[in-house]
Amino acid sequence: MSQALDVAAIKKDFPVLDQVQNGRRLVFLDSAASSQRPVQVIDAMSDFYNTTYANVHRGVYRLAEESTNRYEHARRNVARFIGATNPNEVVFTKNATEAINLVAHSWGRANLRSGDAIVLSILDHHANIVPWQMVAAETGAEIRWIPATADGQLDLSDLDRLLDGAKVLAVTAMSNVTGAITPTDTLVAAAKAAGAVTVLDACQYVPHLPTDVVALGADFVCFSGHKMLGPSGIGVLWAPMELLEAMPPFLGGGGMILNVTVDGFTPDAPPARFEAGTPPITEAIGLSAAIDYLDELGMEAIRAHEVSLTAYAMRKLSAELGDSLRIHGPSEPAQRGGVLSIELEGVHAHDVSQVLDEHAVCVRPGHHCAKPLMKFFGVAATARASFYIYNDESDADALADALVAARDFFAL
Ligand code: ALA
Repeated sequence: MSQALDVAAIKKDFPVLDQVQNGRRLVFLDSAASSQRPVQVIDAMSDFYNTTYANVHRGVYRLAEESTNRYEHARRNVARFIGATNPNEVVFTKNATEAINLVAHSWGRANLRSGDAIVLSILDHHANIVPWQMVAAETGAEIRWIPATADGQLDLSDLDRLLDGAKVLAVTAMSNVTGAITPTDTLVAAAKAAGAVTVLDACQYVPHLPTDVVALGADFVCFSGHKMLGPSGIGVLWAPMELLEAMPPFLGGGGMILNVTVDGFTPDAPPARFEAGTPPITEAIGLSAAIDYLDELGMEAIRAHEVSLTAYAMRKLSAELGDSLRIHGPSEPAQRGGVLSIELEGVHAHDVSQVLDEHAVCVRPGHHCAKPLMKFFGVAATARASFYIYNDESDADALADALVAARDFFAL
């Protein structure tokens, strides 16, 4: 069932939003960098520490068994939320960056050779670029780039040629700079036809759109807990079991072995094979509580809310600021997420963000860990506002007012 979000009620669940800065209510518009957490997530983690915490998959005492049960329940909850049929296909990592590094270093080192090609996109975050550059340098594989269109979407006009002879396509499902939602159906189908695996950076996608990893069809899907109301310190790699089973471990240590002798070790089956050391236990409990919270609202309702709020904000900003404002990315809200990368004519993004902070409006200035895209656009930095479930039109109005103040201040 999809019904409109009650944002006033949602805001009350987020204690951090209930504060005043410079006499104004705090307007948090930086969820693309990291979302806030509802009290339900904070309480779930605190309750777990207070009643249940022990290391997992080690002790045989009751507390340790209950802790392990709760950790594995979190894995099942994540799997259900993303449509995975086998919970053991969900690997908990430190963050999405580690999940992508896991794929690049484990799958990449085992499968890439000199003469192979890795296809990346200019829209991507450094987390889905640098690990591949590292593996390319090690293996001699070549990197090819999918360019962008002027409105910040992928330019797929040369996709088949780029994928010819490629072993891997690593691409974002939604840009953290332009908000463009990439055509995963087309990308996955083209990669499959070329015999390449697809690695999706779904950090900006899973928190905002209903996700079904089986329907997406990608071979690897990576995302973070902290962008979807969960804690920092936990990320997820999903991949089909046959792929995970064929991959060597990435990190070695306790928890990932079946046996160790003085001569070597035998790795455990996935997901344990990829969870060396004490895993993010309480963080998994927090992520599971975040998923329950998102489920309660409904991912379709969340997506509908963000499309409508983004459309409102784009109209409002362009009405208030006219030609002095540029918003990168698709002009059609249905093709994008609630991420607005803003350039204010003649004013540096850091100066814009500082004036916005005076107005208690939190945005992120900078290159957004997407320097190749910034270079492609010919800009050094943008001020990025990003929306989530606890934002409403009053927050977009506050952003517009603060941007007008920034423009007027620097025009003097
Ligand atoms: N990836 C995060 C961002 O886009 C940190 O801001």
